Amino acid sequence: MLEVKEIHTFYGLSHILFGVSLNVDSGQVVCLLGRNGAGKTTTLKSVLGMAPPRQGQIFFKGEEVTGKEPYIMVRKGVGYVPDDRRIFADLTVGENLEIAARKTEERKDWDKNAVYELFPRLREMDSRKGGFLSGGEQKMLAIGRALMGNPEFLLLDEPTEGLAPVLVRVLRGTIERLKGFGLTVLLAEQNVKFTLRLSDYGYIIEKGQIAYKGTVKELTENEEVRKTCGIQ
Ligand SMILES: Nc1ncnc2c1ncn2[C@@H]1O[C@H](COP(=O)(O)OP(=O)(O)OP(=O)(O)O)[C@@H](O)[C@H]1O
Ligand SMILES: [Mg+2]
Repeated sequence: MLEVKEIHTFYGLSHILFGVSLNVDSGQVVCLLGRNGAGKTTTLKSVLGMAPPRQGQIFFKGEEVTGKEPYIMVRKGVGYVPDDRRIFADLTVGENLEIAARKTEERKDWDKNAVYELFPRLREMDSRKGGFLSGGEQKMLAIGRALMGNPEFLLLDEPTEGLAPVLVRVLRGTIERLKGFGLTVLLAEQNVKFTLRLSDYGYIIEKGQIAYKGTVKELTENEEVRKTCGIQ
C-alpha cells in the first residue's frame, strides 16, 4: 500500500533522512522505532507531504505521490495523527470531530457516532472544549479526528507519549480494533514493548537511516536490536 524508496529529506540545509526505504502492506501494522531525534516524525511528514523529500520516491497504492501536498494525500486516503495532537482548544469535542469529517463514496465508515463507539469517554465529553481535556483524552480526540477523514491508511506519531500505563493498554486495544476494521497503520514510537506487541513488521531508524528491519520475531531475536532498543 505504501512504498518509500530511498528518500532524502532536509529542513533547510539540515540533511535529516539519508535514503530511508520502507514498505507497508495493506492491512498491516508496521512500526518505525527510534530514539529522540532519529527521524520518525520526519519520515511520517515526508509521506504526508509536509516535509517533501528532495530525493527518492513515495508510492501510495501503486501511484507515485512524492511531494504531493498534505490535502491531496488526505483525499487519497491517508490519515495523520500528529504527536502534538493539534486539536482546537476553543472548539468542543464534538465540533473538533465535525470539522474533520470527510466522506467519500468508497469510504464512509466513520462519523461522530462511530468515533464515540470507539472512545465512549469522548461521548461523555461531547460539549467540553478541547482545551479542557486531559492528555489522554486529547490523544483519543486526535485519533478520532483522523478517523473522521475516513482514511484507509493511518500515520500515527508516538501515540503513547505521555500516557499513563493504563491508557497505553487501552490504546493498544484501540489500534488492534482499527486493524480489525481493515485500516493499515504506520506507527512511529519509542515505546518498544507496546509497539512490537502490535506490529506485523518493524523498522528501526537511527540518525536518519534504517538500521534494522524485520518481522517482530526477527527483531526481538536480534542481539543488536535488543541492545539498541533496551529489550531485556
Ligand atoms: N523543523 C525542523 N527544522 C530543523 N530541524 C528539525 C526540524 N524538525 C526536526 N528537526 C531535526 O531533525 C531530526 C529528526 O527529528 P524528528 O522530529 O524526525 O525525530 P523523531 O524521531 O520524531 O524524534 P522524537 O522522538 O523526539 O519525536 C532531529 O535532529 C531534529 O532536531
Ligand atoms: Mg517525533
